[in-house]
Amino acid sequence: MSKVKEKILVLDFGGQYNQLIARRVRDHNVYAEIKPYTTSIDEIKSENYKGIIFTGGPNSVFDMSSPHYDKEILNLGIPVLGICYGCQLICWMRGGKVETSDTREYGKIEMTVDNKDSILFSGIPNSVVWMSHTDKIIEVPENFEITAHSDNCPVAAMENVNENIYAVQFHPEVTHTEFGNKLLYNFIFKVCKCKGDWRMEGFIENTVKSLREKIGDKKVVLGLSGGVDSSVAAALLSKAVGSQLTCVFVDQGLMRKDEGDFVENTFTKLFDMKFVRVNCGEEFVSKLKGVTDPEKKRKIIGTEFYNVFWNKIREEADGGFFAQGTIYPDCIESGKGDADKIKTHHNKVEMPDDIKFNDIIEPLCDLFKDEVRKVGELLGIPKELVWRQPFPGPGLGVRIIGEITQEKIKILQDADSVFRDEIKKSGLEKDLSQFFAVLPDVKTVGVMGDHRTYDHLIAIRAVTTDDFMTADFAKIPYDILSRVAGRIINECPNVNRVVYDITSKPPGTIEWE
Ligand code: XMP
Repeated sequence: MSKVKEKILVLDFGGQYNQLIARRVRDHNVYAEIKPYTTSIDEIKSENYKGIIFTGGPNSVFDMSSPHYDKEILNLGIPVLGICYGCQLICWMRGGKVETSDTREYGKIEMTVDNKDSILFSGIPNSVVWMSHTDKIIEVPENFEITAHSDNCPVAAMENVNENIYAVQFHPEVTHTEFGNKLLYNFIFKVCKCKGDWRMEGFIENTVKSLREKIGDKKVVLGLSGGVDSSVAAALLSKAVGSQLTCVFVDQGLMRKDEGDFVENTFTKLFDMKFVRVNCGEEFVSKLKGVTDPEKKRKIIGTEFYNVFWNKIREEADGGFFAQGTIYPDCIESGKGDADKIKTHHNKVEMPDDIKFNDIIEPLCDLFKDEVRKVGELLGIPKELVWRQPFPGPGLGVRIIGEITQEKIKILQDADSVFRDEIKKSGLEKDLSQFFAVLPDVKTVGVMGDHRTYDHLIAIRAVTTDDFMTADFAKIPYDILSRVAGRIINECPNVNRVVYDITSKPPGTIEWE
């Protein structure tokens, strides 16, 4: 992304909100990139940053094993904003005093602005901020002025206007800080003097241009799963090199109802590319015959997928390039922990040794998920794909409990399709993070007309969550649940009972297997 002219560096000292800081900056149409605190000062100097933000971090500045940085960074003439640990680090670097308090200051705290003329606080009144710290500044460095405080924190913010160095003890990036967004705006535009001209349209234009330069007249192969990231990568590559792109789509028969056809239609009709679909549902089911253990099922599905996918890629690989839809959170090097523990989180797929490409292309590796969606919409990908809810790699395989058979796949696909249709009609779709049907390996007695039935049970699951690590079951109104149950029983001949899963995570997981 070196082509971006105006960018802010988020120097990561291991704080949990580092990605959020970058996203908030980008919301102001200024490109922000995250680099670990181990990045050399020469690299930082060479990048022409308009501003640098030091993130928070879990450590104490006087513990010399915690992340520090070359003090010279404050003398480069680039505006700096320190947040939380970053604030204390600036204090420490410039000879101020930081000490550990007896009590931790945590949560929403009332902050008082001491200098109403501070550019950083322009338009910001006394207000609530989010604090999370034990160490605190008790004496600011020479030439620094205190600009805000709270009851327990004598230095909630400090600045050295002449050198453009600003620091806040609280977290402006979290929504609990009432004027956090305004404060970041002030830093980006009033202190760093950014213009804010980073737009997704520009991203598409630049990326298409550089993809064309890189790929030239060679071929590029992409594994398309039908998920958001690989779909947007496919559309972008198609725009860049058209039929030089081959998309390999493995339909293992465990997708939702008609999903494979929808993906195929979308990409063959709307985008110029060679589309290769591998239908291998039968083979998958025969490999899974008699297997009931969840881990064994996952393993078989994973191994089968790997083999089928790479065999196809092997056929299609013609030198050229291999592309994948890796996105920014998978590419960032984290600054967590001490230096020697730093590792690159790179979700690169494992490629068999015998397959050789010129290089791997990751056209989305600078974007967060919501930005990928924006690009997808601008490229004309249908909303159903761009806003698709997460779908596990092993597909319906983890939603059919016990042995997987073609008959069970069909029952689950039909029931799931009814549930999704009703949620869509009710307008609830945007409020739910994930919603789907499950086929437990259970039959129950029922009565239909004058007949006793003994048939399958369908469970429906809907959750709300921000991060999928914890989740609440969704409080779907009873009338909607009742409609869903009625339709599933009427439209799915082998189902006679529907239950709603009211377990949150934890203790339950979102998927059943
Ligand atoms: P759990 O069930 O662990 O799910 O609460 C959390 C999120 O991860 C998805 N999930 C998977 N995604 N392969 C995937 O790509 C998997 O094996 C897998 N298992 C769960 C799940 O749908 C939810 O969004």
